[in-house]
Amino acid sequence: MLKPEIEDGQTSLADPQFRADVLAGLTRRPRAIPARWFYDHRGSQLFEAITDLPEYYPTRTETQLLREIGPELRELVGEGRAMVEFGSGSSTKTPILLDSIMPSAYVPIDISGDFLRESSRTLAERFPDLLILPFEADFTRPLTLPRTIEKAPKLGFFPGSTIGNLIPLAAIDLLRAMRASLEEGAMLVIGMDRIKDAQVLVPAYDDAQGVTAAFNLNLLERINRELDGTIPVDAFAHKAIWNDDRARIEMHLAATRDTAFEVDGRPFEIAAGETIHTENSHKYGPRDARILLRAGGWTPIREWTDADGKFAVILAEAQAERPAP
Ligand code: TRP
Repeated sequence: MLKPEIEDGQTSLADPQFRADVLAGLTRRPRAIPARWFYDHRGSQLFEAITDLPEYYPTRTETQLLREIGPELRELVGEGRAMVEFGSGSSTKTPILLDSIMPSAYVPIDISGDFLRESSRTLAERFPDLLILPFEADFTRPLTLPRTIEKAPKLGFFPGSTIGNLIPLAAIDLLRAMRASLEEGAMLVIGMDRIKDAQVLVPAYDDAQGVTAAFNLNLLERINRELDGTIPVDAFAHKAIWNDDRARIEMHLAATRDTAFEVDGRPFEIAAGETIHTENSHKYGPRDARILLRAGGWTPIREWTDADGKFAVILAEAQAERPAP
C-alpha cells in the first residue's frame, strides 16, 4: 500500500521504484542501492555542499576550465546549434557554456520535473532571448527531441563526470543513446575526471568535515523516512575506497556492528563489516576517455585539462561511421 508521507511540509507518496530498488538492493549480494536515490531534498542540498568542499576538486576545476576554453569552444562548435544538457539539475556550469556558445535553443533534460522547471525559470531571467525547452525524461534511453529543434544541428552537454557514475557497459549504452538522440553531425562537450593519486581521490569522497559521509548516510535516513525503515543509522559508517583494478572510487555504507532492522515491514540482518554499495565514480586516463567515447560512437575532436591534469573536458563529434579498416 502507498502511504502519504509528510516531508518538507508537502504531502508526497513514496516512489514505488525507490521501494523496489531498496528491497532488492538489500536482498542481493553484494548489497547495493542505485545512487540516483541519494537526491531527495536533503541529499540535493548536501550534494551542493560537497561541490564547495576544499577536497572536492572536480566542480571548481571543471567550472574554471569551461570558462577558459569558452572562445576556443565557440570557434570549434560554431553558431546556431541547439544545446541539449543531459541531467541538467541545478547546474551552475550551464550559463558559462550558453555565454560562449550562444546556441539557437537550450534543451535541459532531467528526470526531476520540479527541479527542471525551477532552474529553467532562473535561466530564462538571465537569458531572456534564448529559446528554452525543458524536457522531463530519462536520458539513459534514446529520446525524440522537441520538433522545434528538429532541423538544428545539436550540441550535447554532459558535465560533472557524471559518465563516471556508470559502469563502462552502461556508459557506452548511454553514449550511443545520446548519439541516437542528437543524430549524426552532433557535437558533445563532456567532462571526465582523470585517474590520479588515491591520496587525492579518496579525500574528495571522504572529506574532513564529514559532508560526504552525511550525504551517503542520508540514504539510510531517507529509507527510514519514506519506506517505514527502522535502520539504526549510527550502526553504519561512510566508506570511500579506490578500486584500482576498476579505476573507480566506490562509496559504501559499512555496518560497524551486527544489526537487524525492517524496511517496509520486511526484516533484514547485516553483520559487522558488511557493506551496502551506494556509488561508483570511474576515472579515465586520456586514452581511456578516448576509447570510451569512440566505443560510444563519438570521435574526440579536442580535449582540455587544467594545469595539473586533474580533470578533462572533451569535445567530440558524432561522425558518419566508416566501415573498417
Ligand atoms: N559525478 C560526480 C562524481 O562522481 C558527482 C557525484 C555523484 C558525487 N555522486 C557523488 C560526488 C557522491 C560525491 C559523492 O564525482
